[in-house]
Amino acid sequence: MHPDLERVLIDTATLQNRVQALGTAIAQATVNAPELVLVGILKGSLIFMADLMRSINREVCYDCIAVSSYGASTESSGVVRLNKDLDLDIAGKHVIIVEDIIDSGLTLKYVHDLLLRRNPAALEICALLNKPERRNVNVQVDYRGFDIPNEFVVGYGLDYAERYRNLPYIGVLSPRVYTH
Ligand code: IMP
Ligand code: MG
Repeated sequence: MHPDLERVLIDTATLQNRVQALGTAIAQATVNAPELVLVGILKGSLIFMADLMRSINREVCYDCIAVSSYGASTESSGVVRLNKDLDLDIAGKHVIIVEDIIDSGLTLKYVHDLLLRRNPAALEICALLNKPERRNVNVQVDYRGFDIPNEFVVGYGLDYAERYRNLPYIGVLSPRVYTH
C-alpha cells in the first residue's frame, strides 16, 4: 500500500469485477440503441472509462469533456467551469456520462444539463463511486459502482493535487497529507 494512504478501500480485483458487471449491464440495457456514446469527464474518469469501454460488448464510441471545480483541495469550490467541450455531435444518440465519483453532485448536474440541451435520444449517468452523505443537488445515477463513506479517496484515476491517479486500487488518503 502507498505510504500516504490510511487504508485500501477497494482492491484491484473488486474494482475489475464491478466494472465488468457495469459493462455487461450497459450492453444489455442498450441493445435497442443504435448509437451509444460514452462521455468521460476528464481527468478522473480516464482509467475507469478505459476499463469500462472494454467490458461493453457492443459497438460504442467515446468522447471526453473537461470541467474543473476543485483545484488543489479536498472540498469543492461549488463553481464548475467547462475547460474542454465534446468533439462529437450527440444529437439523437444514446449518451452515458462516465464519472469517477459523485460528491456534492454539482459537477454531474452541470455536465448533465449542458448535454441535455444538445438533444441526445437518451442521457444516462454511470459513476464508479458515490458518496451519498454529501449529495446536495439531485442527480439520478443509472449505473453505479460503489457507495462509499464520506472520506477523501485517491487512485484508479482519482487524484489529490494531481497525484496518486496511477494507483491500481482505491484508498483513503491520510488526512496528514492535506492538513498542515
Ligand atoms: P462534486 O461536483 O462535488 O460531485 O465533485 C465531483 C468531483 O470532485 C469528482 O469528479 C472528483 O474529481 C472530485 N472528488 C470528489 N470527491 C473526491 C475524492 O474523494 N477524491 C478525489 N476526488 C474527488
Ligand atoms: Mg479531480
